Amino acid sequence: MAPVSISSVTKSPFKKSDDLLFDPALIPAELQERLPAGYVVRPLARTDNQVRSNTSFLKTLEVLTTIGTISDEDFQKRFQYLKQRNDEYFTIVIEDMNVPATTPRSATSSSPSLVTPGRGKIVAAGTVLVERKFIRQLGLVGHIEDIAVSADQQGKKLGLRIIETLKAIGQQQGCYKVILDCSEKNVPFYEKCGFERRGVEMGWYV
Ligand code: ACO
Repeated sequence: MAPVSISSVTKSPFKKSDDLLFDPALIPAELQERLPAGYVVRPLARTDNQVRSNTSFLKTLEVLTTIGTISDEDFQKRFQYLKQRNDEYFTIVIEDMNVPATTPRSATSSSPSLVTPGRGKIVAAGTVLVERKFIRQLGLVGHIEDIAVSADQQGKKLGLRIIETLKAIGQQQGCYKVILDCSEKNVPFYEKCGFERRGVEMGWYV
């Protein structure tokens, strides 16, 4: 797998917007091009909690665990919290724009080269959280969390594309490493994504 060149961080099909969690220009254009036709990768949007025939961000996360009951107000509060720290939290989604929009959630872009978030179906998601350390000369570490591909979309390399994008964002932010915890059954997937076993995961659940 060819590494993503950081110099290719340009030409996003999305424009910077208050509705997006972070500047979409941080997503390398090269990674957009690796997706299946009609699929786009973009920052999480303020409107991504809205369910239109099971297409929401939260629905996508259900392959990971239970989500609970999250009101629109709860979602907006959490979104704003993350957005105020958008040099720290980078949550991305892959949207299948081939799905016809029956009830558009936002106005259509005036530019044909720009894509309006929320007109398709969210099919995958993931986050990289950038931790600021004292060690390693105030080093930064990326933590990959909550990688999810909808059950009917698995096996199309969307998980791989999510990880490639999060690694590129982590590298772009200056992280000296990007790490994650996973179950034994997902080890082969992460090895395909360029990760190797290091250390042991420990947990304490309240
Ligand atoms: N075992 C072995 N190989 C695998 C597995 C697996 N479980 N999953 C994927 N692969 C391989 C694929 O065959 C492919 O190999 P290839 O390049 O030789 O063809 C490569 O890994 C890339 O696979 P993708 O098609 O990108 O995988 P997919 O889109 O299905 O996403 C994922 C994988 C994210 C694990 C998905 O199945 C999923 O959402 N599972 C449920 C939720 C989950 O377990 N998420 C990860 C939690 S850990 C965390 O969040 C840090």
